[in-house]
Amino acid sequence: MIFLGIESSCDETAVALYEGDISSGDGKLIAEQVASQIETHARFGGVVPEVASREHLAALPPMVESLMQDAGFTFDQIDQIAVTAGPGLMGALLVGTSYARALGMVHHIPVMPIHHMEGHLLAPGIDKLLPEFPFITLLVSGGHTMLVRVDGIGSYSIVGQTLDDAAGECFDKSARLLGLPYPGGPEIARLAQQGDAKRFTLPRPMLQKDNLHFSFSGLKTAVMYAVKNAGGIDSFDAQAISDMAAAIESAICEVLVKKSIKACIQEDAPRLVIAGGVAANRSLREQLFEMAARKQIEVHLPDPKHCTDNAAMIAYAAFQRARFGVHIPDVWDAQPRWSL
Ligand code: KG4
Ligand code: ZN
Repeated sequence: MIFLGIESSCDETAVALYEGDISSGDGKLIAEQVASQIETHARFGGVVPEVASREHLAALPPMVESLMQDAGFTFDQIDQIAVTAGPGLMGALLVGTSYARALGMVHHIPVMPIHHMEGHLLAPGIDKLLPEFPFITLLVSGGHTMLVRVDGIGSYSIVGQTLDDAAGECFDKSARLLGLPYPGGPEIARLAQQGDAKRFTLPRPMLQKDNLHFSFSGLKTAVMYAVKNAGGIDSFDAQAISDMAAAIESAICEVLVKKSIKACIQEDAPRLVIAGGVAANRSLREQLFEMAARKQIEVHLPDPKHCTDNAAMIAYAAFQRARFGVHIPDVWDAQPRWSL
């Protein structure tokens, strides 16, 4: 079967073609395209929903056209359209779902709504094999921070999640306090390489709590006070900014690593997947690999381009759903809030 995936839940417009064999489970990514809106939103310091919708609207039709043309496919070869139906920005989701439905109607192709987080959870399967079930996924992005137990396709339980800000949001908001551009995560990671994480002391929120939840809003506030107590951002030289960046990265990563390992042990699922934009953080990956090895936990990472938002993961999730006959609702709509 050939799946056309469409993703437009936030600030990336993405399309992909995936070919999968329902009986054997074998499959491969044929082609994909991602158009990032980061530059457009950077001047506003974050994603502006209305602007995001307009950009998706302008980008989607030509992207699908060139994807199909470059891969040498016509619509009569597409068996299934898969589109992110939520969670995300309502306007952005409506652009993707309306376009998918229109394509489906015109070309007589069924359209399957996919949960954006399910796409992220299964992303390691796009380029490699999915880990054996059950496994734990640490899903860390700008909008989400959660630990999910995966018992099979369509069988997911959230075992821990943030009570307030997401880890990526904490990176982004802390970066803003340091006068760094959006998105702040990669900037903090870059500067942290030259920084001394011990110069500034920051809290490790929720680490002492005997549960798998997170809380990052207090950490951002602690960064604000640490900057203030050190004389304000105007008194910071380049080294002080790098030192603070290292302290922020170290605090966020330590909490993510320890809670993820704890989840694997507690859930008796010694396989860990890391997904979402923050999974691109090198320090997080290194620390996770090191600690997991000590506890005999396997770590599975999607290809870096499939850690951030993409449509290959949406097409792949649809393939897995089709393969295992997981229920697809007849009536559905874009849902900005949609529990996993
Ligand atoms: O999954 P994603 O591309 O978009 C969604 O939020 O859905 O994740 C974006 C988030 C941003 O908060 C960004 O700052 C963060 O991932 N991020 C990073 C790194 N690369 C991206 N955070 C820390 N270190 C990185 N290298
Ligand atoms: Zn995402």
